[in-house]
Amino acid sequence: MKTLIIYVSIHHGNTEKVARVMANVLDADLVQVERAHASTLEQYDLIGFGSGIYLGSYHNSLLDLVDKLPIFQSKKAFIFSTSGLRKIRFFHDFDKPVREKLQRKGFDIVGEFSCRGLDTYRATRLVGGINRGRPDAEDLKQAEDFARKILKAVLSD
Ligand SMILES: Cc1cc2nc3c(=O)[nH]c(=O)nc-3n(C[C@H](O)[C@H](O)[C@H](O)COP(=O)(O)O)c2cc1C
Repeated sequence: MKTLIIYVSIHHGNTEKVARVMANVLDADLVQVERAHASTLEQYDLIGFGSGIYLGSYHNSLLDLVDKLPIFQSKKAFIFSTSGLRKIRFFHDFDKPVREKLQRKGFDIVGEFSCRGLDTYRATRLVGGINRGRPDAEDLKQAEDFARKILKAVLSD
């Protein structure tokens, strides 16, 4: 199985830490979004899309890439993010736009992962940031477990 992980991690490299752990488990190619090309995605069976959360959403560059993709037939994807605040369904569900875009492009979303990351944006800077030290060892272990689960599910499908 060929796996690709595309990510954006511009604030503190939080999402990149998570992406690396997942790539290791999945034996995936790992690229930052600006180096990803819509045309190369065809060769992969499973694609992970990850981003820090910026103003309530995945980074626009990742959403723009998804917009440029053709419609795929039964390609599998997973999404992951790091954020300052906890994801709250219906209120702070920052996965929703990318999830819906991917589904419209024919992707089957096989899993979603999110964890907290160091956040020094705006007022949080005044207190030295929130979530200091995160993603920490426990977050990265959870990311690893998540990737293992995805692998098992996709291989048994
Ligand atoms: C410009 C900017 C906007 C942000 N907006 C949000 C937000 O809307 N919600 C949130 O929970 N965190 C927000 N954050 C915090 C980041 O999501 C968090 O620090 C994340 O782990 C950054 O990931 P990265 O280091 O991979 O870029 C924001 C950070 C920045 C720099």
